[in-house]
Amino acid sequence: MKKELSAIEAKYEAQKIAFGPMFFQSVIALRDLGILEFISSHRKGVSIDTIVEKLDVSEYGINLLIEAAEVIGVLEVEEGKVKITKTGFFLLKDEMTRINVNFMNDVCYMGAKAMTDSIVKGKPEGLKVLGDWPTIYEGLSILPEPAKKSWFDFDHYYSDGAFPEALKIVFRNNPKLIFDIGGNTGKWSFACCEHDPNVNIKILDLPVQLKVAKQNATEKGLLDRIDFHAIDLLNTEQKIPQGADVIWMSQFLDCFSKEEIVQILKNAFQAASAETTLYILEPFFDNQQYPAAQYSLVATSLYFTIMANGNSKMYSIDVMKDLVKTAGFEVVNTYPLIGDSYHSVLECKKRLDV
Ligand SMILES: C[S@@+](CC[C@H](N)C(=O)[O-])C[C@H]1O[C@@H](n2cnc3c(N)ncnc32)[C@H](O)[C@@H]1O
Repeated sequence: MKKELSAIEAKYEAQKIAFGPMFFQSVIALRDLGILEFISSHRKGVSIDTIVEKLDVSEYGINLLIEAAEVIGVLEVEEGKVKITKTGFFLLKDEMTRINVNFMNDVCYMGAKAMTDSIVKGKPEGLKVLGDWPTIYEGLSILPEPAKKSWFDFDHYYSDGAFPEALKIVFRNNPKLIFDIGGNTGKWSFACCEHDPNVNIKILDLPVQLKVAKQNATEKGLLDRIDFHAIDLLNTEQKIPQGADVIWMSQFLDCFSKEEIVQILKNAFQAASAETTLYILEPFFDNQQYPAAQYSLVATSLYFTIMANGNSKMYSIDVMKDLVKTAGFEVVNTYPLIGDSYHSVLECKKRLDV
């Protein structure tokens, strides 16, 4: 059971939330001005005088940021020496933390003020700060920098880690033709081509993304094995073609509301035969090993609200299984938390009773 907070502790927790956004930016400044790295390189600690002397930042700025960082546990000051804490170390060196921080700062931060509006309107009202698109997906490949790099680093960091183990699962039955739905830059498709020289792939995505995927496939000399099918899966008139041995959806269904997911899965249902296997790769927030993973996934849902499309989120595994069933598929195998990633794979077949 959670320990009950005293009123004093609860008031302190509430202030952390009240001032959270400003402390976040103070850490960005500490990092970008090189102060965190400089302190980190002095394992035994370093005096404020030395920091002021060595770095091209005002004494005022250095003192201010160090005081802020001490309050939030990023730095500690003992006997006149400033040292980096474990939390500070993760902010500076840990890849997942670095990617999450950049994603927050470059993609989400400015738009986060539009949270209430986005929920009221069911639209990503924060997205306006990056561009004039109905959803972020129409703009992904043409996002302004540094938002574009931070978005793709975030997306790839999470899915890349899952691919090696996922390849073993998907290729158990020797598929000859895979449809990569929402294939984005083509990373999964290229991994499949490398894994099995006999497989062919069709990438289905919005036209703006396919341009990039096609360019990447050209550079890799894979145009004879990968083809491209422009599709807007929110448009019910546009059908997924038939003929796939495997329909692959990686970090894709979380881009949609529950109703849209059922509609997209029904589209996959009409495209599938009894032999087709549908694989869904998702990080489900309720079956994570580490609290940091669950926390990050719940935060990612907030990104979907303000920046992505205003109506999607990360799902729990049971909710996704229900949606799969509603669309006419059954989950025949669940591969929870594959590899060293945060993802599970749902292996699905058409239900025979539909
Ligand atoms: C979060 S990315 C996932 C990319 C990749 N599958 C991965 O695992 O990293 C979602 C992809 O879905 C595509 N997408 C979003 N909305 C779509 C729509 N309405 N129709 C087709 N594709 C869409 C996006 O363009 C993007 O490439």
